[in-house]
Amino acid sequence: MTLIKNKYTPINYDIVKAEIEISGIKNIGKSSIRELVRLVNNIEDNSNEKFIRMEMGVPGLASPTIGTNAEITALKNGVASKYPMIDGIAHLKDEISLFVKNFLNIDVDRKGCIPTVGSMQGGFASFLMINKLNKKKDTVLFIDPGFPVQKQQLEILEQKYETFDVYNFRGEALKEKLESYLKKGNISSIIYSNPNNPSWICFSEKELKIIADLAIKYNIIVIEDLAYLAMDFRKDYSKPGKPPYQPSVANYTNNWILLISSSKIFSYAGQRVGMMVISDQLFNKKYSQLEKKLGNPLFGYNLIYKVLYALSSGVTHSAQYGLAAMLNAVNIGSFNFVEQVKEYGRRAKVMKKIFIENGFTIVYDKDEDKPLADGFYFTFSYKNMNGDELLERLLYYGISAISLAITGSEHTEGLRACVSQTKPSQFKDLEFRLKQFHKHYPN
Ligand SMILES: Cc1ncc(COP(=O)(O)O)c(C=O)c1O
Repeated sequence: MTLIKNKYTPINYDIVKAEIEISGIKNIGKSSIRELVRLVNNIEDNSNEKFIRMEMGVPGLASPTIGTNAEITALKNGVASKYPMIDGIAHLKDEISLFVKNFLNIDVDRKGCIPTVGSMQGGFASFLMINKLNKKKDTVLFIDPGFPVQKQQLEILEQKYETFDVYNFRGEALKEKLESYLKKGNISSIIYSNPNNPSWICFSEKELKIIADLAIKYNIIVIEDLAYLAMDFRKDYSKPGKPPYQPSVANYTNNWILLISSSKIFSYAGQRVGMMVISDQLFNKKYSQLEKKLGNPLFGYNLIYKVLYALSSGVTHSAQYGLAAMLNAVNIGSFNFVEQVKEYGRRAKVMKKIFIENGFTIVYDKDEDKPLADGFYFTFSYKNMNGDELLERLLYYGISAISLAITGSEHTEGLRACVSQTKPSQFKDLEFRLKQFHKHYPN
């Protein structure tokens, strides 16, 4: 157990210590996000103190009523009694295709625009499908750091993955590093998020082109996870049909799947409705392996009528109406979703400053030579402390985060902070607690 140097901590020392013991977690630094959530809930309940909760990426804003009202109307009209189409209700497919055109400037047929039960399901379905295409290509490559649950998905599917931390391989250096994996011939697909969870780095057009060029060279499918689409607030990606557009690998290759979550961009996490968008080329591509295994050679067909049918038989009917209504409002320019979520950038700016003033360092701090954007997450470390110690010690100061060690990062001294649940009214508490921490751990 980590040594706690000063027992006069902002949260009662004995309560935190006891709850850590009761939780049964052997190493706090290796615990999953949901385990930490449970532990912090228990400490809060028993101490009657409110934490600065930065461990889980939950939206901190209200869902747009455009979505919830459309769901209520759809329910009143009786959609609950009917099975939805597996590939999505017609007007949702149209709105997804339009959204991709308006905000990424990418043309895609509505056939390949499919709602999924959160983008989590889109990732799972992609892994399941892609693994069936070619026996020799049996490994997913993560450009890390990344979202830990996607590796968990591969673990439960008993599929292989490889990973590298992109920290030292930005810009031109990405090419050689990526190619060192791809040339082995076992990689089926590459996955990364952009903007990145947990580090909030954003790939440049040059880096996306490097990924695409190599994907073409080695015939690899790119899964681009756009859970935080348009949330790099350094540029204004909010105007439908007008540049600048959210950068995407889809500009440089035809072999892609985009995962677009509604959880953060529309604060719609509870309805578990995301979008999976498949390029026309991949959707219509024929694979002899698929014909042998599933009786039909087409990628898109099998994805819908074999994989998604087996997983959940589509997405909750009313949630599809809600998403379609929000997308419609965004597409016609009557709802600016980016304006809403800019609040996260404002919070990150203040919170990063408070951390830095109290002896902390931002771990991932640059996009090539540019300072990182302020957004949903940031990463931090403290002097010579390792990540496990830092995470555990901060609990006594009423601050929770997750360790970068569970994200595929080599920076195991670092933690990820999610700003969404910290309201500006808590900044004073954050400052006080970090000051105490700094005082108790001066070196
Ligand atoms: C990078 C990334 N991908 C996917 C997801 C999951 O999104 P959804 O809620 O749409 O399943 C998250 C959620 O935190 C995420 O950060």
